[in-house]
Amino acid sequence: MSVDARRDPRPPAPLLAVDALTTILPTRGGALHAVDGVSFTLGAGEVLGVVGESGSGKTMLARTVMGLAPPAARTSGSVRFAGRNLLDARPRDLREVLGPGLAMVFQDPATALNPVTRIGRQLVESLRLRRGLDRRAARDQAVGLLARVGIPDPERRAASYPHELSGGMRQRVSIALAVACGPRVLLADEPTTALDVTVQRQILDLLADLQRGEGMGMLLITHDLAVVAERTERLMVMYAGQIVESGPTPAVVRAPRHPYTAALLASTPRLDRPIHARLDTVPGQPAIPVDPAAGCRFAPRCPRAQPRCRRESPRPTTVTGPITLASDAAAPTRAHTVACFHPTPPATPDAIPTATLTATLTATPGATPIATPTATPTAAGTPGAPDPGGLHGQPVRVPPPAGRLDAGGDAP
Ligand SMILES: Nc1ncnc2c1ncn2[C@@H]1O[C@H](COP(=O)(O)OP(=O)(O)O)[C@@H](O)[C@H]1O
Ligand code: SF4
Ligand SMILES: [Mg+2]
Repeated sequence: MSVDARRDPRPPAPLLAVDALTTILPTRGGALHAVDGVSFTLGAGEVLGVVGESGSGKTMLARTVMGLAPPAARTSGSVRFAGRNLLDARPRDLREVLGPGLAMVFQDPATALNPVTRIGRQLVESLRLRRGLDRRAARDQAVGLLARVGIPDPERRAASYPHELSGGMRQRVSIALAVACGPRVLLADEPTTALDVTVQRQILDLLADLQRGEGMGMLLITHDLAVVAERTERLMVMYAGQIVESGPTPAVVRAPRHPYTAALLASTPRLDRPIHARLDTVPGQPAIPVDPAAGCRFAPRCPRAQPRCRRESPRPTTVTGPITLASDAAAPTRAHTVACFHPTPPATPDAIPTATLTATLTATPGATPIATPTATPTAAGTPGAPDPGGLHGQPVRVPPPAGRLDAGGDAP
């Protein structure tokens, strides 16, 4: 990124603009609002994180953006890419966009790879079909791509079947397939969840490398707050199909305003605490929004809930706290927003101190999360309880913000 680009407080022109996206799935119990009114934009070269517990709708969001929602799903809202609304696009037009425009990396590489075709051939076929290359050129490019994603001895490996590779290598191949046509936007859905910690880091490094190298916009989806804290510039916190908090990653992670985000943070290992420090957990079970009634979906689990929360649905509102990015005011799409009637106070006593920001994940090898067994109020005001959902991940590390940080008040 050039110095000028770093100074420019304006957000990049959005490549992808998602507005009020809703995906409703018919189920035996009723209409499941898996994605409910989600809006965001993503610019070239930007990395936007989506974090939330299992079942919060992250995968359905990515699949709907890609036109891959289940056939029975009802979708509404818009997904604007390259000047057209993909939700209205005919299947043929959509196929033209997928690959060269939008591509997706799945949690399980088996979703993307054909188990009975050699990996080199899969790449060659994709390059011939989508880029119109002849066999020889496609073969050269396929080998180049395998090398680019870190497959050793790519000429020979091209003849392997997926099952002959390790999980990490298979994920590298699926990433090669996803980026083969030079997509402008990559949706990475839990790309490292199935991998061990060392390989996770390598794959995240690879994605970051490709993203920066190609100037792609990337939506990085994960249940692991530590991953988004370290790897994204902006993040959205998803709960029961809705975005409950969003904003510049340092602002949200250092001063979360939604009680759910605060609870997620309290359940994530931190570098500024002893390795064996007890972790809090998010009490209760995640909400499943089947025929959802009015009211905040987090209310049954929220320590700050008031009667109004059960009657009315909170809408996203821009907030300011002890930490405000100077760029917020100039860039409304990147503002820190929270959908809550009684946000966590801005002067969170449990905010992550700056010292944590420069530490690295590798500083706490073997950190073992321990669930708090009893309901004890925490510094962030969230009672603890046995962990139902396994929210724990790697220790949180927050990257230094790209913009200026102001302590207190609105940005100029
Ligand atoms: N094909 C499907 N049919 C019906 N419900 C589904 C389907 N896929 C996912 N769901 C439901 O949609 C909700 C969101 O799921 P998902 O997007 O996979 O969550 P996440 O990726 O955040 O774990 C969950 O309640 C899940 O059970
Ligand atoms: S709106 Fe009410 S119930 Fe929902 S998160 Fe805010 S305080 Fe909690
Ligand atoms: Mg998922």
